[in-house]
Amino acid sequence: MKRYVWLDRAPIPGGDGALCLFEYGEDYVIKIEGGKGGQLMNTRMHGSEDALAEIPCKRLAARPGVRVLIGGLGMGFTLASALRHLGEDAEVQVAELVPGVIEWNRGALGEKSGRPLDDPRTRVLNVDVAEPLKAGPKGFDAILLDVDNGPEGLTQQSNTWLYSAAGLAACARALRPGGYLAVWSASADRGFTLKLGKAGFAVEEVQVYAHGNRGTRHTLWIGTRAAR
Ligand SMILES: C[S@@+](CC[C@H](N)C(=O)[O-])C[C@H]1O[C@@H](n2cnc3c(N)ncnc32)[C@H](O)[C@@H]1O
Repeated sequence: MKRYVWLDRAPIPGGDGALCLFEYGEDYVIKIEGGKGGQLMNTRMHGSEDALAEIPCKRLAARPGVRVLIGGLGMGFTLASALRHLGEDAEVQVAELVPGVIEWNRGALGEKSGRPLDDPRTRVLNVDVAEPLKAGPKGFDAILLDVDNGPEGLTQQSNTWLYSAAGLAACARALRPGGYLAVWSASADRGFTLKLGKAGFAVEEVQVYAHGNRGTRHTLWIGTRAAR
């Protein structure tokens, strides 16, 4: 019988919480310790994490010098998917808040996603994704956000800003014309769809299977910034 084997604890900077890495049979699981707690991610189900990158990056593949920002790294599946669908001259910046998560991906966990941190197009930064978002206008062709379980702060309370009118305005400013903002969620949220529209994005809401082609589905929002 499979059981959870505790492997490591990675403190979340600036708070008193932590992420914990477990082995579960052939797979790995990341859980949030304490508080709202629960499972953040596992290596068995990553269909929707793949699709978060696949949908916008396929559309961008023909553009030269594509720049993508991903927040956060997690188990590396969104990053690996972005790299699969982008050209050789692309750059994918990954903002990951928790240093331990980057270390886990450089170790055995990284095998599960095909070691995307080793790709020369990857630039991983140990920062809050809010930093590169606020850094400069029109820097990215796509911003892919999967830092919580939906459009509400979970890993840290301050993530709530990302989904607010101010956070979405910062995303719009950080995007090049015609760029994409993609957001992952465990469930649908009509209020957030409306908020994206109010922030000036043309919004598509897509339901994607967590694993294979049946069972649990997750929600992705793909917002397109106006072309000019
Ligand atoms: C659900 S996982 C991401 C899963 C990822 N899409 C994948 O394919 O494996 C969420 C990640 O976001 C990170 N994170 C949470 N808040 C963040 C923030 N404000 N900035 C950067 N990373 C953050 C967490 O530490 C965690 O590694």
